[in-house]
Amino acid sequence: GIASIKAREILDSRGNPTIEVDCLLECGITARAGVPSGASTGSKEAIELRDNDKNRFFGKGVLKAVNNVNEIIAPKLIGLDVTKQRQIDSIMIELDGTPNKAKLGANAILGVSLAVARAASYFSDLPLYQYLGGPNANLLPVPCMNIMNGGVHANWQGADFQEFMIAPYGANSFKEAYEWCSEIYQALKGLLKEKGYSVGVGDEGGFAPLVKSNEEPFELMSKAIENAGLKVGEQVGFALDPASSEFYKEGKYILRREKKELEPAKMVKYYEKIVNNFPLVLLEDGLAEYDWDSWKILNKTLGDKIELVGDDIFVTNLEIVKRGISENIANSVLIKLNQIGTLSETLDTVRYAQNSKWGTFVSHRSGETTDSFIADLTVAISAGHLKTGAPARGERVEKYNQLVRIEEELGKYAKYAGKSAFIRPIK
Ligand code: PGA
Ligand code: ZN
Repeated sequence: GIASIKAREILDSRGNPTIEVDCLLECGITARAGVPSGASTGSKEAIELRDNDKNRFFGKGVLKAVNNVNEIIAPKLIGLDVTKQRQIDSIMIELDGTPNKAKLGANAILGVSLAVARAASYFSDLPLYQYLGGPNANLLPVPCMNIMNGGVHANWQGADFQEFMIAPYGANSFKEAYEWCSEIYQALKGLLKEKGYSVGVGDEGGFAPLVKSNEEPFELMSKAIENAGLKVGEQVGFALDPASSEFYKEGKYILRREKKELEPAKMVKYYEKIVNNFPLVLLEDGLAEYDWDSWKILNKTLGDKIELVGDDIFVTNLEIVKRGISENIANSVLIKLNQIGTLSETLDTVRYAQNSKWGTFVSHRSGETTDSFIADLTVAISAGHLKTGAPARGERVEKYNQLVRIEEELGKYAKYAGKSAFIRPIK
């Protein structure tokens, strides 16, 4: 049974406040969970409750959310069986009573939901990935590492596109993939230095130099892969999250780096060219959340070749994902726990997507804590791939390090997803 639940305000990786929750059980077990925070958020995400008290953290304090956990949520959960995740999440959803968790805050609710799940895994004496995923969970994901940052994550000082990722699908194990990514990251740093480019990093730990175009990062990353002794395409491909809602204005995509304003159909052509020039295997948020109908053009053009993931457009919300699937606008959904606010709802979205033969791509947020919950979640749901930033900075590498531990624990029974990770086959 749950003995106590206590929340506090901590700092995230951007130096802004976020919430952390401790769950204590009657048997003495304690577990903790931290809640992340996005910068390029979808408009339909569940509400992240902030104090708006300008005297603290420029209004970003989360003491209201902390108080909601300690004073409103905790008293309703004391004494409950910690393994009753669905019941606990439902109680919080009802207590909140709004469709988007605006009253108690998705940050408050998610902190409790995840702390409870972790406590239940300790109580059940199971590793978290096994508690969540069952006895046969053994699929290690391809880590899509964001090694070049742009867009809002780099204050618009770099590329217009937000995340340029490497996908080491040709490795034989997670550990090998992780080593390759680290080597490519260091090779890229050397290459940028040689070219006189900045090696300062963006919010997710990737380099953010002032590139000449939005294609140049692919050239730089290709060279870095070769310099690390690896083969572009055969062993390591690319994934891209332009986070295009951020540069979509009045029906056009504004590419500042290239002084171009593209209509949706032209933007699709732009991506088609990238796919023809580089081994891009996954494109997330290629079009904006407000440009729903153009997604159909994108999916018609590229949907049978590469994985097309919806982030801002679906916000891990089951009802929106259902509509996306029925209208055939993409073939994969990004999974971010804090977009919807409970573990149970997240798992509902995952199950529906997977039953519909859609991909599920697990993601961190640009503002993170050192909590590695999503590493276990990725293995639990056999997602096959995740993105959690560069192979640098504590809050990013902690997730990758946890996957190394999981692979080690599974030993010879671990399976690396490799090329089969993606919803469209890789040649
Ligand atoms: P965010 O970015 O966490 O700042 O929203 C991540 C993403 O767009 O995938
Ligand atoms: Zn995204």
